[in-house]
Amino acid sequence: MELRLRKKLVVSGISKSYGNSAVLQNISFDVMEREFLSILGPSGCGKTTLLRILIGLLEPDKGRVQKDGTDITRARPDRRGMGIVFQNYALFENMSVLRNVEYALRFHNVSKTEARERAERMLDAVGLKEHGQKMPRALSGGQQQRVAIARTLVLNPDIVLLDEPISALDVSTRLAMRGELKNLQNAFGTTMIYVTHDQEEAFALSDRIMILDQGSVSQIDTPERIVSHPANEYVQGFVLDNLQSKVDSLTRYIGGKAT
Ligand SMILES: Nc1ncnc2c1ncn2[C@@H]1O[C@H](COP(=O)(O)OP(=O)(O)O)[C@@H](O)[C@H]1O
Ligand SMILES: [Mg+2]
Repeated sequence: MELRLRKKLVVSGISKSYGNSAVLQNISFDVMEREFLSILGPSGCGKTTLLRILIGLLEPDKGRVQKDGTDITRARPDRRGMGIVFQNYALFENMSVLRNVEYALRFHNVSKTEARERAERMLDAVGLKEHGQKMPRALSGGQQQRVAIARTLVLNPDIVLLDEPISALDVSTRLAMRGELKNLQNAFGTTMIYVTHDQEEAFALSDRIMILDQGSVSQIDTPERIVSHPANEYVQGFVLDNLQSKVDSLTRYIGGKAT
């Protein structure tokens, strides 16, 4: 059965400067419903700035953001139906894991009983059922990041933004978390926008990848198309040449077509 996907997010002509320095230049892209889109680029290329504009923590100088056909460029962050997970999960250290997940719900006028039920279900979904009464510091880095993800998903966002959410974790935890992210996306039907500077991570997870070069879009395409038709020297150099060192996993991913 072929799925007919709708445009979930339409971003048009976003520009942002700090003083004289242009951080984002005329960024346009669409995100399809239930798509896993990665934004890939080196440190300082504008990834976090773009996410902050999408979620409404920052206003663009130019351009607009539409979600489900509605202009949300100036909508309040909590009215956008989006959630964000940061690299340094920012859990409340003085609250139990369960309370961390419940907390946001209480601000959204959810009753105490319902908040407790939803938080418990969410902890179960991320594999932390047994850890609800612990304090965050008693958990491993990977578990803490799962609490941060649970805390975001419990509000039922239909788009989740992830800003290098697993780059601080050790290698084996990173690999395990990748699989879990995909499972959660399937289970909750969310659209995901995933920021990373790691080429291999972007290729392993994404339906499409948007490659940023100093605040401009170099290419937005499927991993296969980027490999077969790199848009320019930058994509060839920053993305594909760096992937060469990890060519084994790439070969597995595209089914042995890499040479
Ligand atoms: N509030 C700010 N004021 C001035 N410059 C900023 C601010 N935030 C980010 N920048 C600059 O904008 C550029 C892009 O930053 P950022 O979006 O954080 O990149 P990335 O997330 O890709 O590492 C960097 O050069 C950074 O120094
Ligand atoms: Mg960043």
